[in-house]
Amino acid sequence: MGKRLLEVIGVDLFYGDAQAVWDVSFHVDKELIVALVGTNGAGKSTLLDAISGIIRPEKGKILFSGKSLANMKPEEVVDLGISHVPEGRRLFSRLTVLENLELGAFPSRTRPFLKESLERAFSLFPLLKNRIHQTAGSLSGGEQQMLAIARALMARPTLLMLDEPSLGLAPVILKLMFEIVQALNREGVTILLVEQNVHQTLEIADHVYVLKAGKIELSGGGKDLLRNSDFQQAYLGMKG
Ligand SMILES: Nc1ncnc2c1ncn2[C@@H]1O[C@H](COP(=O)(O)OP(=O)(O)O)[C@@H](O)[C@H]1O
Ligand SMILES: [Mg+2]
Repeated sequence: MGKRLLEVIGVDLFYGDAQAVWDVSFHVDKELIVALVGTNGAGKSTLLDAISGIIRPEKGKILFSGKSLANMKPEEVVDLGISHVPEGRRLFSRLTVLENLELGAFPSRTRPFLKESLERAFSLFPLLKNRIHQTAGSLSGGEQQMLAIARALMARPTLLMLDEPSLGLAPVILKLMFEIVQALNREGVTILLVEQNVHQTLEIADHVYVLKAGKIELSGGGKDLLRNSDFQQAYLGMKG
């Protein structure tokens, strides 16, 4: 097997008659952190939904380990090893932390590892361990985001897709969230990170694609883009 884990090739995505994504191609190599950045409405969440099988491309292909995801149901995509933490977390707010985590382990291949997966979740997120019998809805925003990530990890993904995990978090929790993403990556989880927090994202991402109005505008190494003066002017509000 090669190093290429995910390939999005020439994808067009629509909502009804309205086109949201135009001929987008990008790839994610194994064990990297790859980021999609861009302003609100650029098409980032739409792309993650297409990878997850929630919406279907009108044109183009999405391959995971060389295998087409066309016609796969969202739960089949999870079973293949892609977990998606959506924007807004979508936890079961009236269920407990433990129940939310157990539901994350729904793919049959992951069930034999339930106990081990729970231990891993609690070692990564010790805060959650003290709250296992609390409802998800009673947690703080940062704790809910951690629970959403922990739940996605219960499916033991090869590729973890995170949609704006830092959204609405206080600065200290936001910093912790970026550290958690790096820690997961060091454990061997490949990360596809969608963020509007461009600066922190560029610091940790191996490769970054910038989306604008549904198209890839430019791409490069995270650290390289940080030093690129055109990029600085357009996205970081600095003069080159
Ligand atoms: N459910 C939807 N129905 C119709 N249009 C949508 C829907 N979701 C997103 N869009 C449109 O698709 C475009 C891309 O949106 P989105 O992928 O959510 O952007 P981002 O995640 O980059 O902020 C926007 O123009 C948005 O208005
Ligand atoms: Mg979005």
